[in-house]
Amino acid sequence: MSYAPILTIANEKGGVGKTATAVNVAAALARAGLRVVAVDGDSQADLTWGVGAEPDQGPGFAEAIEHAAQGDTFDPATLLPTVVDGLRVLAGGQGLAEVAPELYTAGADGEEWVSTALRAVAELEDVDVVVIDTPPSPGPVTIGAIMAADLTLAIANARQANSVAALQTLIERAKAISARGGHGGVRVVLQGHDEHRVLHRDMRDRLQAEPEGLFAVIPHSKDVEESPLDGVPLVASRGRGSSRTAWALCDLAQDAYNVARQIHTQQVTAA
Ligand SMILES: Nc1ncnc2c1ncn2[C@@H]1O[C@H](COP(=O)(O)OP(=O)(O)O)[C@@H](O)[C@H]1O
Ligand SMILES: [Mg+2]
Repeated sequence: MSYAPILTIANEKGGVGKTATAVNVAAALARAGLRVVAVDGDSQADLTWGVGAEPDQGPGFAEAIEHAAQGDTFDPATLLPTVVDGLRVLAGGQGLAEVAPELYTAGADGEEWVSTALRAVAELEDVDVVVIDTPPSPGPVTIGAIMAADLTLAIANARQANSVAALQTLIERAKAISARGGHGGVRVVLQGHDEHRVLHRDMRDRLQAEPEGLFAVIPHSKDVEESPLDGVPLVASRGRGSSRTAWALCDLAQDAYNVARQIHTQQVTAA
């Protein structure tokens, strides 16, 4: 069965910029004319709010996972419209907190259900690309999302990793998960970069020196912090959408989509 490329945004740490990246990459791809589904893997539902939708108003990602566990097909009516044309969202919310214990107990099966649910979305005929935001933990949702992904963007941030060791753990974990169940690639994105700060420049240089290198550097901008407040992604905002940060996010979206599609095509050809 053919399916759309899947992009997963991950890092088990919170506050590094996963959701900001997912929201804007999804919105940028929709604005470029693709039919995009953003999947919110977090019970806090920041991504759902960030695209102007409301969590916990009906079935969302949690129910999609439960359906997958029971072998039922995915119901496309679960996808909600957003403020961005061409972008729909599979909502996060409290349901994810409720299914979490069951997923943990199920172990590898739980990860598989998550992965199956995501592939079911990618198999819909009117979907060109799927972008998944993951929670701040290395649990079943994160692992299932990396297993399903053609490409995982590992988000780094000078705020969180000020040692080379912390950084390497992040990259190696992402790679290990990807190698275990998935077939996908991993690329590192530095979020919220501030060129004026020594710590930030230091972090960027260290990342660049890693074998994986740096896939993208997204400049720090207060516009990113403020855009979730009005439920409009920065790249889709009329007033703020032309900032350097917005451009960097659009470039990242395009590059990530191209790499994901490339990996995806190789995968389909090999199968
Ligand atoms: N490029 C950026 N510039 C400024 N603030 C950013 C940037 N990226 C993310 N942030 C902010 O950092 C905080 C954490 O980001 P978020 O995407 O919620 O992280 P996570 O999903 O990893 O927990 C939020 O307040 C967000 O607005
Ligand atoms: Mg988040």
